[in-house]
Amino acid sequence: MPVLALVGGQWGDEGKGKVIDSLAANADMVVRYAGGDNAGHTTVNPHGTFRLHLIPSGIFYSNVCCVIGNGVVVNPAVLLREISELREHGVTTDNLVVSDRAHLIMPYHILLDRLEEERRGQGAIGTTQRGIGPAFVDKVARTGLRVGDLLDATIFRRRLENAMEQKNALLTSLYGHPAISVDEIFDQYMGFLEQMHPHIVDTLPLIHNAMQRGDRIMLEGAQGALLDTDFGTYPFVTSSSPLAGAATLGSGIGPTHIERVIGVFKAYATRVGSGPMPTELNDDMGDFIREKAREYGATTGRPRRCGWFDAIAGRFSVRINGMTEVALTHLDIFDGFESIKICTGYRIGGTFTTEFPTRIETVEQCEPVYEEMPGWDECTEEVSEYSKLPLNARKYVDTISSLLGCRVSLVSMGPKREQMIEVRP
Ligand code: IMO
Ligand code: MG
Repeated sequence: MPVLALVGGQWGDEGKGKVIDSLAANADMVVRYAGGDNAGHTTVNPHGTFRLHLIPSGIFYSNVCCVIGNGVVVNPAVLLREISELREHGVTTDNLVVSDRAHLIMPYHILLDRLEEERRGQGAIGTTQRGIGPAFVDKVARTGLRVGDLLDATIFRRRLENAMEQKNALLTSLYGHPAISVDEIFDQYMGFLEQMHPHIVDTLPLIHNAMQRGDRIMLEGAQGALLDTDFGTYPFVTSSSPLAGAATLGSGIGPTHIERVIGVFKAYATRVGSGPMPTELNDDMGDFIREKAREYGATTGRPRRCGWFDAIAGRFSVRINGMTEVALTHLDIFDGFESIKICTGYRIGGTFTTEFPTRIETVEQCEPVYEEMPGWDECTEEVSEYSKLPLNARKYVDTISSLLGCRVSLVSMGPKREQMIEVRP
């Protein structure tokens, strides 16, 4: 696998952290390429249980170089907290580098994220309030501060003053919020520098040299395709692209080098925050899945909305990512289910479609059309070979493969690293 991208296929929380943590055993480098600490990647391995928001899930292997790529927005406070938590558990972070091109999340981004959500009222997006949207706005508005700016206090100060003149005008006039102090933020960020310094580098020579050596590189996505700014349920989306295409931009690896794109999907669907979700179950079944799978946000603790697998949204996601394979996670949640449904089309008014619509107003009207399949009684958590899975579980996996138009190559049951099996073609 010279370069492999691993992306979320649904609305995030598909189990990307676990899959990366398993596959990184055979990698030399893992690069996070998008999002920020809105992500919550859970891994359960011999070091303990971790919820990583920024640091790549390859960090548990000391020989794997972990890169926070230029496409990520970095909150230094979160980064340093994560580093110290890992160290407390005996996990080294000497193998962690942060791109000097990555943008910084500033305190005013977090404040603006909250104030803007309040201003949206009923139309709130349900963001993670980590300042992600405002930080990406500043990046494209060319008023952002980058990790590398921290290395020169004079430049950092000048850019900070320039940005904050505008932010304070916005805070006071639009939101009626008191202005915030440049000095305080300056001091705080200079304080972060001391601990961050050893990790800050131009990551491109590192990545390009690794490629030249033929090192095995994994690109770790955050969020999921249906939260993409262009293709997701806009405006209920995130502010960077979770897609495999963005993996090239967020790492500095050209598109011709990506050989495999693994899309991670849960065996059912979840969504956290607002926005349409055609297969959402507002009934006992939805509650049952949530409780059995403990579907509560790793970043915000919010209960996740649960529903059946949506193969229409899924196939759309396969296509816009150019997925070559699918990893299907949480299959064990269906152990003991009498029957399982898969959405194979939408009825919209009097019409039927198998295409994922553009406008949220149309997605909201979609009534899912289901195919029902028989479940299985057996516990699959300890199964270590695909052929040993119950026949109906294999049929479920095969049906998903054919509806998505993409081979399922990995199936995962349970949270632990080793609870993952290969599906041979
Ligand atoms: P991982 O990497 C699930 C959702 C938020 C909200 C919307 C916009 O763990 O899969 P933002 O804070 O990004 O501006 O919020 O996107 N969201 C996620 N949902 N998993 C994530 O990441 C998410 N990152 C953002 O809940 O609906
Ligand atoms: Mg998450």
